[in-house]
Amino acid sequence: MIASGLENENLRYAAELLKKGEVVAFPTETVYGLGANAFNEDALKKIFKIKARPTSDPLILHLYSETQLRELVLEVSPTAQKLMNSFWPGPLTLIFKKSKKVSDLITAGLDTVAIRIPKNEIALELLKLTGLPVAAPSANKFQSMSPTTAQAVLEELGDQVGLIIDGGLCESGLESTVLSIIDEPEILRFGAIPAEDIEMVLGHPIKTANTRAQESARQMSPGLLSFHYAPRTRLVFCRTLEDAREHLTAENNVAIVFDNQQKKTLNSDQPVVVLSPLGDLKEAAQNLFIKLRQIDKQKPSLIIAIAVPTQGLGRAINDRLSKAQH
Ligand code: TXA
Ligand code: MG
Repeated sequence: MIASGLENENLRYAAELLKKGEVVAFPTETVYGLGANAFNEDALKKIFKIKARPTSDPLILHLYSETQLRELVLEVSPTAQKLMNSFWPGPLTLIFKKSKKVSDLITAGLDTVAIRIPKNEIALELLKLTGLPVAAPSANKFQSMSPTTAQAVLEELGDQVGLIIDGGLCESGLESTVLSIIDEPEILRFGAIPAEDIEMVLGHPIKTANTRAQESARQMSPGLLSFHYAPRTRLVFCRTLEDAREHLTAENNVAIVFDNQQKKTLNSDQPVVVLSPLGDLKEAAQNLFIKLRQIDKQKPSLIIAIAVPTQGLGRAINDRLSKAQH
């Protein structure tokens, strides 16, 4: 059932369900999450079952207050505190050394735990009413695209989730940036906070998992499997318009491009979907998964995705598009 997140009564009901060990889908500023009480192992198991997600892929804990951190992590370093002050509440997930209270189901047996405080008002209110850390992966089937509307959650998970709290279209439309601060700060997943913003706060360039060997990156963050975020339709990711042109010759193909300028240059007879007519990366990010879902429903033979500019949010958009290839 979909219930409006603007009704307090619905949020109170959702909080009761979470406390009892049921799962509830809810909006955040990034994408919709599938939440469960982090202190209830049976509830956590439901998440993996519903998503058909392997337990080797760890979950993010969602809090409403920094005071909740104390029992969950071993320490909050000055770097962590600086980043929290700048980006929380917001779409930055930080990796801490975990305390004994954090279940191995959440961390996939790692000795670290991923945590964030979301910025979305409905999410924050729900977390407050629940009073517990809530583990929440994106509310989609494993390796599928994250849902950015309540309807998309319903299409992904159907009646396997009793309650979906509706908060409209997610503001950023891309998942949170995952940053490890265990050693030197390192981005494990590009996301809704651009790397440049984090570098500005820290005052120096940061490492990204892309610069590591694939295997060690996988061990650092098992969720960084290369195939992910994918529509059902086969998708090819092209770095240049020239590459894209080769694929556009066949019938029933659809291209997805950044802006009107790219569309014009491509000059194709095939349908071309534009992420942001005037070339705004924020708008493109917000539209990415809804547009891909719309295209998927039309069942083309192939989606040809063309790289957006590689800066700011563009790195996260290109990361998702390259991982959607199959
Ligand atoms: O925006 C988001 O982050 C959304 C909303 C619902 O908050 N959640 C989300 O969760 O995208 P999920 O489970 O789809 O992705 C979590 C990512 C995975 O790539 C996982 O590998 C990584 O976080 N992760 C979780 N715990 C980790 C840990 N201890 N060390 C390294 N990476 C971790
Ligand atoms: Mg996910």
